[in-house]
Amino acid sequence: MRACRRPGRWGVLILWVLLLVVPAAQAFEDDENCLMCHKYPKMGRITDDGVFRSYYVMPHVFARTVHRNVPCTDCHNYIKQLPHRPVKTGVQCNSECHSIKNPATGKQFSHKPIYDKYMDSVHGRPKVATGPDRDKPYCVTCHTNPIYNPDEKALPKHIVDRCVVCHEDRDFVENWYKHTSRRIKEVRRSNKEIVQLCANCHGDERLVQRHLKAARLEGRELGRKYPYAVESYLESFHGKVTRYGFQKSPSCLDCHADAENYYLNVHFIRPSRDPASPVSRERKLETCRRCHKYADENYAQLDPHPTSDPADNRFRHYAEVIYGWVGDIVLFLLVGMAFLETVGRWRDGVVWKIRKGSSWWRKSKRDRDRVI
Ligand code: HEC
Ligand code: HEC
Ligand code: HEC
Ligand code: HEC
Ligand code: HEC
Ligand code: HEC
Ligand code: HEC
Repeated sequence: MRACRRPGRWGVLILWVLLLVVPAAQAFEDDENCLMCHKYPKMGRITDDGVFRSYYVMPHVFARTVHRNVPCTDCHNYIKQLPHRPVKTGVQCNSECHSIKNPATGKQFSHKPIYDKYMDSVHGRPKVATGPDRDKPYCVTCHTNPIYNPDEKALPKHIVDRCVVCHEDRDFVENWYKHTSRRIKEVRRSNKEIVQLCANCHGDERLVQRHLKAARLEGRELGRKYPYAVESYLESFHGKVTRYGFQKSPSCLDCHADAENYYLNVHFIRPSRDPASPVSRERKLETCRRCHKYADENYAQLDPHPTSDPADNRFRHYAEVIYGWVGDIVLFLLVGMAFLETVGRWRDGVVWKIRKGSSWWRKSKRDRDRVI
């Protein structure tokens, strides 16, 4: 309708007012009218580095995400007026939702319990970090805004109908059904995905070197295996079977995070020098025993991060060097003997001939004719 008639000056004003008061038709409440502007696909800006940064929010996608009931300003709580002020910190994941209560505790909902664990972990950093801390993962490094049950087109009617018989309101039921069914379904990343996630940083040679240097300058300790974490895991038996898609062998988190209360403790990775870490000297055996039921102290000494760097494992290094030499010498002797034998036969008068048979005799060069 809007397209048919060019609105006059007042018309434009009314249109703006209408847009401000009438929320667009979508599955979530945009009662702050942010989408009035942010629903336009081209919306964005070119940053100082010359990169286009999109400010477009897709209403139909956002409406299917786990955060769809959170009003925009509960997260973007720094936006208080229009036009917006320049952003300093952006969204922090420990803020309290003003609009959503946790029905179990009656308090305003917040990810603060996870956030506090994370801040105490090896990866804890403020949203805007400086120096080496910038390399650490923030919540949004590992999490996007996931969609509820992405592979499910329609909700199973036979279940939803049953809820509706009591709750009467279909929207209520569908919302809660999505909420719980996502959590009942296993959404844990596969072992391969977790290895990939950690390898993004721990397998990045330059990042690792940067931190070794920073730690040296600050006189700070880093784990013995810090420089080899990923390559050595991939080299290990666990890493190899994981690469073939085996789910029962441990990913990084099966060892480095407590299995109990997994979803909280993946955020509480501590270095192995902390006795609280499941890979500390004190708790390592207990961790191996989760899968290797009959493991003893000796078994737990087997290295889950095997390397042959002399600085890390001198025995393995020299064993590899010696085996390397033994292999080379044996090969050299074999080829050398075959060569000498060939030369000797040639001097004895054995000549190769491809056509009409393989070899024939001629006069020996050193008077050793073997006439048969
Ligand atoms: C009148 C139109 C309009 C409305 C309404 C509006 N915005 Fe914006 N928003 C903009 C424009 C224009 C920009 C780009 C500003 C810039 O680049 O300086 C922007 C940028 C942003 C940014 C990115 C800021 C940055 O620099 O990183 C966020 C986040 C944002 N808006 C959130 C919101 C939220 C949340 C609401 C609802 C409370 C909202 N906007 C409502 C026009 C609007
Ligand atoms: C669950 C929290 C959450 C909700 C709800 C949310 N956002 Fe965001 N939004 C984020 C995060 C996190 C980012 C990434 C930028 C950052 O870390 O500050 C972001 C980025 C953006 C950006 C790009 C800004 C930039 O600097 O790249 C815009 C624009 C935006 N959001 C608008 C909205 C609008 C409009 C809504 C409501 C429909 C909304 N957001 C709802 C958390 C949220
Ligand atoms: C036989 C009737 C009945 C059926 C079927 C039923 N519910 Fe309920 N539901 C109730 C009653 C009654 C309560 C309040 C119970 C209480 O507070 O102990 C409730 C509470 C709830 C609540 C908590 C609401 C709140 O804000 O505290 C949710 C969520 C819920 N039901 C979702 C569902 C879903 C989803 C289904 C279908 C899978 C379902 N229910 C099937 C009767 C039913
Ligand atoms: C190093 C990566 C990483 C960082 C950083 C991280 N998380 Fe997680 N988070 C995970 C993993 C892994 C899981 C387990 C589920 C999975 O495998 O996806 C998880 C699970 C969760 C869950 C449960 C999800 C569900 O569907 O049950 C929430 C909520 C969560 N994280 C919030 C946060 C918050 C808030 C922060 C920042 C304080 C954060 N995470 C930082 C990796 C991370
Ligand atoms: C975004 C990059 C990034 C990701 C992703 C990441 N890490 Fe880290 N990790 C770091 C940085 C940076 C440090 C800190 C090094 C320092 O203290 O200087 C660190 C430290 C650690 C440490 C302690 C090292 C020590 O000796 O103090 C462990 C253990 C660790 N990470 C394990 C993991 C695991 C397991 C995963 C996968 C779930 C993971 N990390 C994902 C960047 C990352
Ligand atoms: C089978 C258990 C196990 C698995 C799987 C495992 N680790 Fe480790 N990790 C350990 C142990 C034990 C140590 C301590 C070794 C030592 O210092 O002797 C360690 C040490 C580390 C360190 C050095 C920092 C510290 O805490 O000492 C990093 C970083 C690390 N692992 C990252 C990873 C990453 C990334 C993965 C996955 C690619 C992974 N680990 C898989 C058991 C494991
Ligand atoms: C999440 C379960 C899990 C954890 C935790 C775990 N492993 Fe394993 N490990 C496996 C699986 C699965 C295999 C391969 C299949 C098999 O041998 O049964 C394996 C194989 C091995 C092998 C290869 C030889 C063998 O005995 O089969 C060694 C050595 C090993 N693990 C050592 C360790 C050590 C040391 C720890 C503790 C630091 C540990 N594992 C922790 C699951 C685990």
